[in-house]
Amino acid sequence: MNQADSGIITALLQGEGYVQAEQELDAGIVLLNTCAVRENAVERVEHFLQRLQGRKKREKGLIVGVAGCIPQYRKEEMFSLYPAIDFLAGPDTYRTIPSLVEQVRSGGKLASLEFNSAETYEGVEPVRQGATSAFVPVMRGCNNRCAYCVVPFTRGRERSQPVRSVIVEVQKLVASGYREITLLGQNVNSYCDADEGYDFAALLDAVSREAPLARIRFTTSHPKDISEALVQTIASRPNICNALHLPVQSGSSRMLDRMNRGHTIEEYREKIALIRSVIPDVALSTDIIAGFCGEQEEDHQASLELLADIRFDSAYMFFYSTRPGTLAAKTLEDDVPEPVKKRRLQEIIDLQNRISGELFQEAIGTVVEVLAESESRRSSEQLMGRTAGNRAVVFDRENYKPGDLLNVSITGATSATLTGRPEHIYFLS
Ligand code: 5AD
Ligand code: SF4
Repeated sequence: MNQADSGIITALLQGEGYVQAEQELDAGIVLLNTCAVRENAVERVEHFLQRLQGRKKREKGLIVGVAGCIPQYRKEEMFSLYPAIDFLAGPDTYRTIPSLVEQVRSGGKLASLEFNSAETYEGVEPVRQGATSAFVPVMRGCNNRCAYCVVPFTRGRERSQPVRSVIVEVQKLVASGYREITLLGQNVNSYCDADEGYDFAALLDAVSREAPLARIRFTTSHPKDISEALVQTIASRPNICNALHLPVQSGSSRMLDRMNRGHTIEEYREKIALIRSVIPDVALSTDIIAGFCGEQEEDHQASLELLADIRFDSAYMFFYSTRPGTLAAKTLEDDVPEPVKKRRLQEIIDLQNRISGELFQEAIGTVVEVLAESESRRSSEQLMGRTAGNRAVVFDRENYKPGDLLNVSITGATSATLTGRPEHIYFLS
């Protein structure tokens, strides 16, 4: 979502005649678009701002702006903490950034941090990286109140992009030759265009028909909004990838209740069973947090058991860090000692890596359809692409180029990458 938002900010600035610098030191305006979801993301921004302080002193005209979720909750205190900053803009006020830049040129510090639950950035065509895969934000904000999460406080209430404007954007992407479209939202499957009577399943169906030659993905889904209609839509439309990212956060109902997730672990398992019964080859991934407030050893064991039972393709795994202003920060004690959190997280990572490794090994000898994305990091003789299940595949380049869809015969695997060579079909006459 941040990458997509950076594309929106870039488009707004380019609209005013600004040009993106090749590298940081060439830039006269340095703009950080920030994430506040976990403490280590915030720490990285803090270090960057401290480092920028020296340059700011040396270069008189340098303008520094901070956008996104961190300024939205830390507000004007950012100015005294990090004197390098000239202006702040929140997730709903990116449209003000060009005028903030102009205003701070004549001195002073400015903050534009109002919430605007009508803002969907409709009509702004984001500047995208690459010409193969495109993000399309379809909803913003979150109406849930997960106890650990700062997002509802930084991104505000849910609002959806009208279906008509999503379709227009998709049509433009198709005309420009994009081969993969990822619909984005904090809770993408609670998408709702009430005027046109579209829920997320209907939107997904419409997008997949509008872009029949592109792969369609979406993220992130909340378990409570996984409907049978949505699962049937994924199964019935060939170009919707059979892949679902479904954060679980914990394997223990007691913890899910404390986290205010709105479902039990049995209900989560039922959703997974429904998905697998309708889409047998679905690739599942998840998010999981170790060491949330009050987590006991048995809750942690329940998380390990869940991972072992479900066998997700992959997982984003974190240890809990308190976020200011959240329900947990206000009402629960962050009582799991840090070494325990880290040990539990390591056990989760080790187990998941083993499972991912096993699943990847099972792919050796199969032929998978891959969308080539870019040159591989290791060798210019190889390309990197992804399967419909979102597995990274590195393969011999031959005459293929990014954007090509091809079959790859898998010959090797690590826990994160498959390797192989393009499959050639020979016809005998
Ligand atoms: N501590 C650790 N992980 C968190 N996440 C969200 N808030 C926190 C927090 N305070 C994780 C969740 C979420 C993902 C985007 O980040 O797993 O799904
Ligand atoms: Fe945060 Fe929960 Fe909303 Fe996801 S659903 S953004 S974890 S509050």
